[in-house]
Amino acid sequence: MVNRFIRDEKDNSIKHQYQNYSDNKTDHSSENIIITPWEVHGDFEDENYSKLIEKFGTQHISLDLINKIKKITGEVHPLIKFRYFFSHRDLDWILNKYENGEQFYLYTGRGPSGLVHMGHLLPWIFTKYLQEKFNSKLIFQITDDEKFLYNMNFDRNRIKNYVLENILDVIAIGFNPELTKIIVDTEHIKSLYPIAIEIAKKITFSTAKSVFGFNNMTNIGMIGFPPIQAAPCFLPTVLENKPTPVLIPAAIDQDPYWRITRDVAEKLGYYKPAQIHSKFLPGLSNLTKMSSSKPETAIFTTDEPEVVRKKVMSSFTGGQPTVELQKKLGANPDICPVFWYLKYFFDTEKKSIERFYRCRSGNLLCGECKNELANESVIFIKDFKKRREKARDKIAEFMFESR
Ligand code: TRP
Repeated sequence: MVNRFIRDEKDNSIKHQYQNYSDNKTDHSSENIIITPWEVHGDFEDENYSKLIEKFGTQHISLDLINKIKKITGEVHPLIKFRYFFSHRDLDWILNKYENGEQFYLYTGRGPSGLVHMGHLLPWIFTKYLQEKFNSKLIFQITDDEKFLYNMNFDRNRIKNYVLENILDVIAIGFNPELTKIIVDTEHIKSLYPIAIEIAKKITFSTAKSVFGFNNMTNIGMIGFPPIQAAPCFLPTVLENKPTPVLIPAAIDQDPYWRITRDVAEKLGYYKPAQIHSKFLPGLSNLTKMSSSKPETAIFTTDEPEVVRKKVMSSFTGGQPTVELQKKLGANPDICPVFWYLKYFFDTEKKSIERFYRCRSGNLLCGECKNELANESVIFIKDFKKRREKARDKIAEFMFESR
């Protein structure tokens, strides 16, 4: 097996492609995995997530660690149990700190490149849970600069509109307003900039190129951006005026940022930020990350109920071509987005396990699952939309105040 990095010098898009070329021709699953903060393609099966752990040098969430979480919080969140959060760095360290009486901050974010869909919500739902369990303050960064710089055909107004819409989604998640501050980069840059230049000074272009895949065609705004996303890792220390641990719940594609942040942290006198990494929630069409650029495969928080239903009912599944074959051979829940959505959002653990076996044995047909998912999603989105509307009056309360 040969791993190669491939750069696309032709256009301004940044490709840092991690491709596996396998001698085994039948192993399609590991071909063509591409992961950068700006681009994710590939078939994300468990095997490939394990490869990412190796590739990125992160850690599996071990049983010991799960037991430690249980000891502290009294339970294990299903998203950890189901391994949606599957990898980490220094989670054990930050839990030790907590046990020794040191509170940690949470830090997560959103790149406002479009409307929010269900795939985005899982890490935020989990972050809210952590906030409740650990009584943590949360910094939520909105990288409007990043998305402006990356998308060549986006103007500032388009981004501004997404910023506002996305903030409504963030607030609708139900974060505690007293503990949560939203940072919009272009608005709150004053608080980030002094930290960002400290970081920037310690990172060479050579490192940035190899970590992010920048090349000579990359615009220089993008090249200068990573320290802006790194800065909130250290902001808590500045705000609290003492070394403050930070835990970042985020999808694994954001990891390059944390690698460079961790490299410079100690040199600058900060703790390294800890991370807990999630998988991607695939679209309803196939196994790749749910993408806002394929609107027919994503359930947006702004979708009308009929649209939600229609998207779910026309979803890709792990089913057989005919009912007869399915009854005879069973279907494959491992590759089925309908199964995953039910599992991560709606099923209890018990129900999900039962669904898995009924599906595999051919006793469950795809129509039934799709129907259940459509019903649940319609209820979920309806409720979420109400909370989104209420959020309009709460924006000021949630915004970070520069000082
Ligand atoms: N770059 C992220 C995105 O494109 C947004 C982001 C900023 C973020 N800070 C973060 C995501 C911290 C997770 C954690 O979506």
